[in-house]
Amino acid sequence: MGNFQYDITVIGSGPGGYVAAIRLAQLGFKTAIVEKYEALGGTCLNVGCIPSKALLDSSEHFFNASHNFKTHGINLTNLKVDMNQMIERKNQVVSQTVEGVKFLMKKNKITVYYGFGSFENQNTLSITKKDGTQEMITSEKFIIATGSKPYTIPGVEIDKTRIITSTEALNLKEVPKSMIVIGGGVIGLEMGSVFARLGTKIKVIEYTDSLIPAMDLDLGKEIQKVLSKELGFEFFFKHKVTGASVNGKKAKVIALNSENQEVNFEADYVLVAVGRRPYTDGLGLDKVGVKLDNRGKVEVNDDLQTNIPNIYAIGDVIRGAMLAHKASEEGIYLAEKLAGQKPHIHYLLIPNVVYTWPEVAGVGYTEQELKEKGIPYKKGKFDFRNLGRSRASMDLEGFVKILAHKDTDEILGMHIIGPRAADLIAEGVVAMEFRASAEDLAIFSHAHPTFAEAIKEAALDATAKRALHM
Ligand code: FAD
Ligand code: NAI
Repeated sequence: MGNFQYDITVIGSGPGGYVAAIRLAQLGFKTAIVEKYEALGGTCLNVGCIPSKALLDSSEHFFNASHNFKTHGINLTNLKVDMNQMIERKNQVVSQTVEGVKFLMKKNKITVYYGFGSFENQNTLSITKKDGTQEMITSEKFIIATGSKPYTIPGVEIDKTRIITSTEALNLKEVPKSMIVIGGGVIGLEMGSVFARLGTKIKVIEYTDSLIPAMDLDLGKEIQKVLSKELGFEFFFKHKVTGASVNGKKAKVIALNSENQEVNFEADYVLVAVGRRPYTDGLGLDKVGVKLDNRGKVEVNDDLQTNIPNIYAIGDVIRGAMLAHKASEEGIYLAEKLAGQKPHIHYLLIPNVVYTWPEVAGVGYTEQELKEKGIPYKKGKFDFRNLGRSRASMDLEGFVKILAHKDTDEILGMHIIGPRAADLIAEGVVAMEFRASAEDLAIFSHAHPTFAEAIKEAALDATAKRALHM
């Protein structure tokens, strides 16, 4: 440590930063963490993963109560949404989770600084606190884990009242009559689902010709079908939004369609969900000469080290998927690397999940990637509607698709849309980490009746076209 106060200081307390800090402390480093907000946990815990899932669960209960309970023989009258209570419960889930992180910092003897961190030089960080006072700390090494912020497009200014991002959408105290969602990606579909289930008319304007375009294309097609049919989503593909404005209690959006004609939309709210930008504002990177790439992300090598040797970076602020578990894996990797261990991250096997209902999840190569790479493959598919478990719970939509190497039968990708896909995909991750063949999954016992039987059946279909129940 030499003359420095800390061995390693982490800037940012999201799932990248706080997990890195815990692992560093476990490995014996004298560790500090700096967070500009008074709540730890970053985007994910405060305005991302956790609150969005809390509202997805609440809205799903309402949707089931209003649409499906009757079929189960449960009759309700006077069903209504209490938005204040729904938001209050979500806030409680967030604060319990955030308190948990505070406890973990204390338990692991990590020093927490609340304030905005900015580099003075490569071993000194100034921390500006809420009351305006400043404190300097010194550290042998730093990890930048400052995450990301919502991005917008030219002509669309976020006014945070009618033209909003996910952050404001998570705190709406009313059920809007209508909402335009710009962007058919993950946030658009998840937050769109929350409000559509509560009764909002959702129109999604998407630049490309499919939903969640980074995932296997069959998943996007299927979720489009289900959201249109079940929740009344309307989709406008190949539309490029060029402007948005607020007019009293309404917001307007202008887009150009594929024929270059102007199309006008109007709704109570406009949710901008066109991606997120890396957040390095005010961090003083120019002072120490840390390089950014052409998309503003902190440039790192395979060891997550920047061009300044004692400064590292992880999570949303660097290249790769903007996912909480990817950020955490990088935090653990880096801590172990700095302790002289030989950790490894298999980026291909970081799963992607969209928490709509049915859920959407994928891991490994998509079918389009295998085609592009010229890798010979075979495909197995099984529809959930063929399962007794799905009939019992009325979760009939969706399928499991397994892609395996044509010659070796090694599983190369698993793509699921269906009930509990977010949890089911873990079987694909484990199988692929152990380089299992489709036949391996096909011969392992899967409890009956479970949704996981669809994986066994898809594996049977992939390995020898011998699914049992279709
Ligand atoms: P962040 O979580 O963004 O944390 C960075 C922290 O650094 C912040 O607390 C910030 O205040 C702090 N900071 C920044 N600059 C400074 C500074 N100069 N000084 C001090 N502190 C600073 N991912 C999933 O995997 N699953 C999901 O279900 C999921 N749902 C999401 C839902 C929504 C609505 C959103 C917006 C995102 C969601 N994500 C989800 C993405 C996930 O939140 C991010 O990938 C994850 O939070 C990235 O972690 P991070 O540690 O890199 O950064
Ligand atoms: P995204 O990248 O998932 O989707 C953005 C969409 O907007 C794309 O489909 C894009 O084609 C479209 N778009 C871009 N410009 C447009 C324009 N001018 N007009 C119309 N459409 C346009 O980004 P999103 O949904 O904002 O999410 C941000 C990040 O947060 C994602 O990278 C995601 O990984 C993460 N996240 C993860 C979740 C999860 O893991 N379940 C949930 C929510 C967010």
